Amino acid sequence: MILISEHASTSKAVQDRLHRPLRDLRISVTDRCNFRCVYCMPREIFGPGYAFLPRKDLLTLEEIARIAQVFAALGMRKVRITGGEPLIRRNLEHLIEMIDATEGVQDISLTTNGSMLTADRAVSLKQAGLKRLTISLDALDDATFKSINDVDYPASRVLDGIDNARAAGFSDIKVNAVVRRGLNEHAVLDLAKHFRHSGCIVRFIEYMDVGETNGWNLDDVIPAADLVDRIDALYPLEAVSPNYPGEVAKRWRYRDGAGEIGFITSVTQSFCGECSRARLSAVGELYTCLFGTQGHDLRSLLRSGADDAQLLQAVSGIWQKREDRYSELRATATKVPVTGQAKVEMSHIGG
Ligand code: GTP
Ligand code: 5AD
Ligand code: SF4
Ligand code: SF4
Repeated sequence: MILISEHASTSKAVQDRLHRPLRDLRISVTDRCNFRCVYCMPREIFGPGYAFLPRKDLLTLEEIARIAQVFAALGMRKVRITGGEPLIRRNLEHLIEMIDATEGVQDISLTTNGSMLTADRAVSLKQAGLKRLTISLDALDDATFKSINDVDYPASRVLDGIDNARAAGFSDIKVNAVVRRGLNEHAVLDLAKHFRHSGCIVRFIEYMDVGETNGWNLDDVIPAADLVDRIDALYPLEAVSPNYPGEVAKRWRYRDGAGEIGFITSVTQSFCGECSRARLSAVGELYTCLFGTQGHDLRSLLRSGADDAQLLQAVSGIWQKREDRYSELRATATKVPVTGQAKVEMSHIGG
């Protein structure tokens, strides 16, 4: 690993064709999930007959850590662990420890549906070095939440998971809520109200056309600007400047000091211009966009015995050729860009 660590301390971030550095790596550790959210893994498609990735095809935790080292050497500083549901993956804490020990990595976070966030698990994640947690929760009332997760899972148990995370010492927990017209728009004010004064930052996400299975329609998207207006009418808001260039969420805070909320506007106001995110699937395909159709196979390279220099060269070459800006194109086109190829599912590469 000498070459990689030398590289990490001396190199500048590799840039793509649109001069965007490689700063973030999102790692999917499994394509499985115990929920069947209607906008992500609709039961009609992800039912008992669905062919999930065979376990033997998954990267081992050591292989993932090695790829993370290569990315760090190319300028990557933030890692987010995703799924499917990442807490399904056994011994995930070991991966977190290895990534935490990787030179150059400054931040490790994880996105979860919260259902497996027991008190013990939250403590072991914290001890392994996980810095931040994002928990998905689309409604507080069970009728709505169960109609979304489609596995009869009550919202109160996700709230328990959030409490367990806090008790384990996680601060600045984020709560992600996807908003789809006619499905949970009434839940927006409940969520905003519930998490005021809690220290948790709720972020409302515009429903996106990821993958090919959720039957997305532009009419189902409620523009974040409308949600800002609705919340502001009840609890006055003021805009807050971004924490870092290219931050995904637009930040707002309550004028009365009740905390912060965010809006993820990938449909109405795209943010491709500063997108520094690469995504790794559980079987080692590298995707350079959330709306990608084709991944780059890093697993074959790894398993064919490639050395560090070869891995660095491969990833760097892929990034240097990158010119993805799907959301920007969607916004400027009169209709959704058609690639002619199926887009990868979100459960395959994470959010
Ligand atoms: P922080 O590191 O806390 O700023 O997290 P984040 O906001 O980058 O991460 P998170 O995974 O919580 O992102 C929230 C949601 O934004 C995701 O679940 C996606 O729905 C969406 N999102 C994140 N990254 C991208 C992206 O690159 N493109 C698009 N179109 N949407 C994204
Ligand atoms: N549009 C927007 N967000 C989505 N997510 C999953 N599918 C979609 C979609 N179609 C969100 C989840 C979770 C994160 C991983 O991505 O709700 O918060
Ligand atoms: Fe699972 Fe998250 Fe997809 Fe829901 S959105 S099905 S919790 S991976
Ligand atoms: Fe990045 Fe692709 Fe999302 Fe644009 S659409 S912000 S390029 S992941």
